[in-house]
Amino acid sequence: MHTALRVFCLIPQSNMRTEVATTEETVILTRPVGFTHTFTVFPDDMNYVGSLFGGKILAEMDIAAANAARKLLRGTDCEGAVTASLDRVDFKKPAKLGDIIELQANVVGLGRTSIVISVSVNKEDLRTGVVEQICDARFTFIALKDGKPHPHKRILLSEHI
Ligand SMILES: CC(C)(COP(=O)(O)OP(=O)(O)OC[C@H]1O[C@@H](n2cnc3c(N)ncnc32)[C@H](O)[C@@H]1OP(=O)(O)O)[C@@H](O)C(=O)NCCC(=O)NCCS
Repeated sequence: MHTALRVFCLIPQSNMRTEVATTEETVILTRPVGFTHTFTVFPDDMNYVGSLFGGKILAEMDIAAANAARKLLRGTDCEGAVTASLDRVDFKKPAKLGDIIELQANVVGLGRTSIVISVSVNKEDLRTGVVEQICDARFTFIALKDGKPHPHKRILLSEHI
Protein backbone atom coordinates (compact mmCIF):
# COMPACT_ATOMS: atom_id res chain seq x y z
CA MET A 1 0.00 0.00 0.00
CA HIS A 2 1.31 3.45 -0.90
CA THR A 3 1.95 5.66 2.11
CA ALA A 4 1.81 9.41 1.53
CA LEU A 5 4.80 11.30 2.89
CA ARG A 6 3.75 13.98 5.31
CA VAL A 7 6.03 17.04 5.57
CA PHE A 8 6.11 19.24 8.65
CA CYS A 9 7.86 22.62 8.95
CA LEU A 10 9.53 23.54 12.21
CA ILE A 11 8.84 27.23 12.84
CA PRO A 12 10.79 28.84 15.71
CA GLN A 13 8.38 30.04 18.38
CA SER A 14 9.75 32.09 21.28
CA ASN A 15 13.07 30.37 20.83
CA MET A 16 11.45 26.92 21.13
CA ARG A 17 11.24 24.26 18.47
CA THR A 18 8.23 22.04 18.14
CA GLU A 19 9.29 18.63 16.94
CA VAL A 20 6.66 16.20 15.81
CA ALA A 21 8.31 13.30 14.08
CA THR A 22 7.23 9.70 13.67
CA THR A 23 8.74 7.15 11.35
CA GLU A 24 6.48 8.44 8.55
CA GLU A 25 7.31 12.12 8.80
CA THR A 26 9.96 14.15 7.06
CA VAL A 27 10.80 17.39 8.80
CA ILE A 28 12.06 20.52 7.07
CA LEU A 29 14.34 22.45 9.40
CA THR A 30 13.80 26.18 9.06
CA ARG A 31 17.16 27.29 10.41
CA PRO A 32 20.80 26.16 10.19
CA VAL A 33 22.03 23.35 12.42
CA GLY A 34 25.42 23.96 13.99
CA PHE A 35 27.49 23.46 17.09
CA THR A 36 30.33 25.54 18.53
CA HIS A 37 32.93 24.06 20.81
CA THR A 38 36.02 25.65 22.40
CA PHE A 39 38.98 24.53 24.44
CA THR A 40 42.24 26.00 25.75
CA VAL A 41 45.55 24.48 24.68
CA PHE A 42 47.12 22.88 27.77
CA PRO A 43 50.58 21.27 28.12
CA ASP A 44 49.16 17.75 27.67
CA ASP A 45 47.85 18.77 24.22
CA MET A 46 51.28 19.56 22.77
CA ASN A 47 53.44 17.55 20.36
CA TYR A 48 57.19 17.15 20.83
CA VAL A 49 57.99 20.26 18.74
CA GLY A 50 55.91 22.51 20.97
CA SER A 51 52.71 23.07 18.98
CA LEU A 52 49.18 21.69 19.38
CA PHE A 53 49.11 17.96 18.49
CA GLY A 54 47.22 17.30 15.23
CA GLY A 55 45.54 14.20 16.66
CA LYS A 56 44.04 16.33 19.45
CA ILE A 57 42.61 18.75 16.84
CA LEU A 58 41.12 15.86 14.82
CA ALA A 59 39.50 14.36 17.93
CA GLU A 60 37.97 17.72 18.88
CA MET A 61 36.72 18.22 15.30
CA ASP A 62 35.07 14.81 15.40
CA ILE A 63 33.38 15.69 18.72
CA ALA A 64 32.12 19.04 17.38
CA ALA A 65 30.78 17.37 14.22
CA ALA A 66 29.17 14.57 16.27
CA ASN A 67 27.36 17.13 18.42
CA ALA A 68 26.04 18.92 15.32
CA ALA A 69 24.80 15.54 14.06
CA ARG A 70 23.14 14.87 17.43
CA LYS A 71 21.34 18.22 17.21
CA LEU A 72 20.11 17.36 13.74
CA LEU A 73 18.82 14.00 15.00
CA ARG A 74 16.88 15.54 17.88
CA GLY A 75 13.30 14.33 17.68
CA THR A 76 14.01 11.49 15.24
CA ASP A 77 13.89 7.79 16.01
CA CYS A 78 17.63 7.47 15.28
CA GLU A 79 19.77 6.48 18.25
CA GLY A 80 22.85 8.41 17.17
CA ALA A 81 25.35 8.74 14.36
CA VAL A 82 28.86 7.49 13.63
CA THR A 83 31.69 9.02 11.65
CA ALA A 84 31.89 7.35 8.25
CA SER A 85 34.59 9.53 6.69
CA LEU A 86 36.32 12.84 6.61
CA ASP A 87 37.96 14.53 3.67
CA ARG A 88 41.42 16.05 3.41
CA VAL A 89 42.62 18.09 6.36
CA ASP A 90 45.35 20.69 5.91
CA PHE A 91 46.92 22.07 9.07
CA LYS A 92 47.60 25.62 7.93
CA LYS A 93 49.02 27.19 11.07
CA PRO A 94 50.32 25.87 14.40
CA ALA A 95 48.55 26.67 17.67
CA LYS A 96 50.53 27.21 20.85
CA LEU A 97 50.17 26.77 24.58
CA GLY A 98 47.36 28.95 25.97
CA ASP A 99 45.67 29.62 22.63
CA ILE A 100 41.88 29.37 22.60
CA ILE A 101 40.68 26.92 19.95
CA GLU A 102 37.18 27.44 18.57
CA LEU A 103 35.54 24.78 16.42
CA GLN A 104 32.44 25.63 14.41
CA ALA A 105 30.54 22.63 13.00
CA ASN A 106 27.71 23.20 10.51
CA VAL A 107 25.47 20.70 8.75
CA VAL A 108 25.99 21.36 5.04
CA GLY A 109 24.40 18.36 3.36
CA LEU A 110 21.93 15.58 3.98
CA GLY A 111 21.40 12.23 2.30
CA ARG A 112 18.98 9.51 3.28
CA THR A 113 20.98 8.43 6.32
CA SER A 114 24.09 10.57 5.86
CA ILE A 115 24.82 13.96 7.40
CA VAL A 116 27.64 16.07 5.96
CA ILE A 117 29.19 18.49 8.42
CA SER A 118 31.76 21.18 7.74
CA VAL A 119 34.09 21.94 10.64
CA SER A 120 36.23 25.08 10.75
CA VAL A 121 38.88 25.52 13.45
CA ASN A 122 40.23 28.90 14.57
CA LYS A 123 42.86 29.78 17.15
CA GLU A 124 42.83 32.97 19.18
CA ASP A 125 45.88 34.41 20.88
CA LEU A 126 44.32 36.05 23.93
CA ARG A 127 47.30 38.40 24.42
CA THR A 128 46.91 39.98 20.97
CA GLY A 129 43.30 39.11 20.10
CA VAL A 130 44.45 37.80 16.72
CA VAL A 131 42.16 35.06 15.36
CA GLU A 132 43.35 32.77 12.55
CA GLN A 133 41.96 29.63 10.93
CA ILE A 134 44.19 26.63 11.56
CA CYS A 135 42.28 23.97 9.60
CA ASP A 136 38.93 22.80 8.25
CA ALA A 137 37.40 19.55 7.00
CA ARG A 138 34.15 17.89 5.98
CA PHE A 139 32.89 14.94 7.95
CA THR A 140 30.21 12.47 6.92
CA PHE A 141 28.18 10.93 9.72
CA ILE A 142 25.63 8.14 9.31
CA ALA A 143 22.47 8.04 11.40
CA LEU A 144 21.90 4.70 13.10
CA LYS A 145 19.15 2.67 14.67
CA ASP A 146 19.85 -0.74 16.13
CA GLY A 147 23.44 -0.30 14.92
CA LYS A 148 22.44 0.03 11.26
CA PRO A 149 22.05 3.04 8.90
CA HIS A 150 18.60 4.50 9.41
CA PRO A 151 16.82 7.40 7.62
CA HIS A 152 16.94 10.64 9.60
CA LYS A 153 14.06 12.18 7.60
CA ARG A 154 15.48 15.66 7.89
CA ILE A 155 15.63 18.27 5.13
CA LEU A 156 17.51 21.56 5.30
CA LEU A 157 16.53 24.54 3.19
CA SER A 158 19.30 25.49 0.76
CA GLU A 159 19.71 28.94 2.35
CA HIS A 160 20.58 27.23 5.65
CA ILE A 161 23.37 25.10 4.22
C1 LIG B 1 29.42 4.01 8.34
C2 LIG B 1 28.64 2.68 8.30
C3 LIG B 1 27.52 2.74 9.36
C4 LIG B 1 28.05 2.52 6.91
O1 LIG B 1 27.38 1.29 6.91
P1 LIG B 1 27.00 0.57 5.49
O2 LIG B 1 26.14 -0.59 5.78
O3 LIG B 1 28.25 0.37 4.71
O4 LIG B 1 26.19 1.73 4.81
P2 LIG B 1 25.29 1.71 3.50
O5 LIG B 1 26.07 1.14 2.34
O6 LIG B 1 23.95 1.09 3.82
O7 LIG B 1 25.09 3.27 3.24
C5 LIG B 1 24.42 4.05 4.21
C6 LIG B 1 24.85 5.48 4.00
O8 LIG B 1 26.21 5.63 4.40
C7 LIG B 1 26.92 6.30 3.36
N1 LIG B 1 28.31 5.84 3.44
C8 LIG B 1 28.73 4.57 3.60
N2 LIG B 1 30.07 4.56 3.69
C9 LIG B 1 30.50 5.86 3.61
C10 LIG B 1 31.78 6.49 3.63
N3 LIG B 1 32.92 5.81 3.78
N4 LIG B 1 31.83 7.84 3.51
C11 LIG B 1 30.70 8.56 3.39
N5 LIG B 1 29.44 8.01 3.35
C12 LIG B 1 29.37 6.67 3.46
C13 LIG B 1 26.20 5.89 2.09
O9 LIG B 1 26.49 6.79 1.03
C14 LIG B 1 24.77 5.97 2.56
O10 LIG B 1 24.34 7.32 2.60
P3 LIG B 1 22.80 7.75 2.29
O11 LIG B 1 21.90 6.86 3.12
O12 LIG B 1 22.67 9.17 2.74
O13 LIG B 1 22.58 7.56 0.83
C15 LIG B 1 29.56 1.47 8.61
O14 LIG B 1 30.56 1.39 7.60
C16 LIG B 1 30.25 1.57 9.95
O15 LIG B 1 29.64 1.23 10.97
N6 LIG B 1 31.51 2.06 9.98
C17 LIG B 1 32.20 2.25 11.25
C18 LIG B 1 31.85 3.62 11.86
C19 LIG B 1 32.72 3.92 13.02
O16 LIG B 1 33.03 3.04 13.81
N7 LIG B 1 33.15 5.18 13.14
C20 LIG B 1 34.09 5.58 14.16
C21 LIG B 1 33.48 5.75 15.48
S1 LIG B 1 32.18 6.97 15.53
